[in-house]
Amino acid sequence: MAFDPLQQRGIPLDEQLRDWRELNVTPIDPDHADPYTRCRIITMNGIEVEAILFSHQLARHCPDLEIKQQLARVRYIEAQQQKTVNWLLPGASSVLETTIAYEQVAVDLTAWVARMEPDPYLRQAYQFGVLEDFDHLYRYANLYEMIEHRKAEKIVDNLTEVMPGRPTYLHHRDPFDNVRRPYVRSVTEPLSRLHALTIMSAEQQTMNFYMNVGPMYMEPIARQLYQEIGMVEEEHVTHYESLVDPGESLWEQLLNHEYNECYLYYSFMETESDPKVKNIWELHLNMELEHLRLAAELFKRFDGRDPDQVLAPALPPPVTFEPNKGYIRDLLATQIDCTTLGTGYVREAHERFTRMQEAVMGGEKPASERVIDDNRAISGREYRLETEGPHPAGLQLSS
Ligand SMILES: [Fe+2]
Ligand SMILES: [Fe+2]
Ligand SMILES: [Fe+2]
Ligand SMILES: [Fe+2]
Repeated sequence: MAFDPLQQRGIPLDEQLRDWRELNVTPIDPDHADPYTRCRIITMNGIEVEAILFSHQLARHCPDLEIKQQLARVRYIEAQQQKTVNWLLPGASSVLETTIAYEQVAVDLTAWVARMEPDPYLRQAYQFGVLEDFDHLYRYANLYEMIEHRKAEKIVDNLTEVMPGRPTYLHHRDPFDNVRRPYVRSVTEPLSRLHALTIMSAEQQTMNFYMNVGPMYMEPIARQLYQEIGMVEEEHVTHYESLVDPGESLWEQLLNHEYNECYLYYSFMETESDPKVKNIWELHLNMELEHLRLAAELFKRFDGRDPDQVLAPALPPPVTFEPNKGYIRDLLATQIDCTTLGTGYVREAHERFTRMQEAVMGGEKPASERVIDDNRAISGREYRLETEGPHPAGLQLSS
C-alpha cells in the first residue's frame, strides 16, 4: 500500500516533548544485536544531526522572529530524537568498533542507493564513492586487529566483506576535482533528491566523528590513520553535497529534509528486526509527519508552490540494509582504478592529481599503507574477510 506522508496525521508538536526518563533508552547489546540494526542507528543519527545543523543555518538566515521561534521548537525535538537514536549505541563498544560500523554503513547504504538511483550521473557518483569507504573498512579492520586484537567479523558479521577497495592513498585528490555537477531540480526524480540528502548526511556525520575522535588515541598509527581518512571524508562530503541543486530555496530544502526523515524512519520501521528499536522508528516517524506538515506550510507561504509539485506522490520502496557483496565485487572488477577530473571520471592519473599526491605524501608512505604493513608484521598476515572467494580485481592476499 502506498504511504504518502503528506496525507498522514502525525503527533502534534506540543505533544512531542519527552522527559529525561523517556530519552534514557536501553542501548542495543553489542554482542548479539543485528549489525544492520546498528547501521540503521548510525544512519538515523547522521540524518538527525543534519536536520539540526540545517535548521540552525536556516535560522541564521531568517529575519522573522516568529518563524525563528517555530524553527527552534522543531529543532529541539530533532535534538531529542538525535539523543534517543545515538544513545541506542552501547558504551561497551570501542570507538574503533563504532568506526568499523560507520564504514559498514557507508558501504551497504551507498551500494543500496547506487542500485536504486535512476540517474546515471548520480549513480556513478555513488559507485565511485562506495569503493573508497569499502577500502576504509579494510584499513580500520587491520588497525582493529593490531591494537584491540580482535577481528572485524565480530562487528560486520559476514554481511559485508573486508578487503582492499580503491586504495586509500589514491583518494587524496585536488579539491577542485571533488565537486560534481548537481541534479536539475525541475526535472530530477524525487527519489534522487532523497538519495543525495541521505548519503551527504551519512558522510557528514562520519567526517564529524573522525575529526573529533581521531586525536583521542595514544597509538601514533591510529592518530595518523584517522587524520588521513578524516581528510577523505571531507572530500566525500564535498563530492555528495555538490549533487544537490543549489537552486532549491531554503524552504524547499527544509521540505526535502523533513520528507527524507519520514522516508527513512518509515523504511527502517518496515525493515527493523529489533522490536524495541522498531518502536522508536515508529514514534519518530509520527513526529516527522508533523514536522513535514509544518515545513509544507512554510514552503507554500514563502516558496509560493504546492509541496506536491516537488515531492513524490508516495514514498519509494524502503531503504534496506542487506548484503551487497556481488554488487561491490562487480564495481571492484570494473572501477577500482577510476579517479575524478573536473566534474567527470577518468582512469589515468592526471597532472593535478599527481601534484596533489606529491604534495600530501611528502615522499613517504601514508598511514593507510603502513597500517597494513604493520599488521602483517605483527599478525603474520593482513586482515581480510573474503567470504565469496579471492579478490575480484586481483589484489591477492600475500603473507
Ligand atoms: Fe528528526
Ligand atoms: Fe570512509
Ligand atoms: Fe566516506
Ligand atoms: Fe524532522
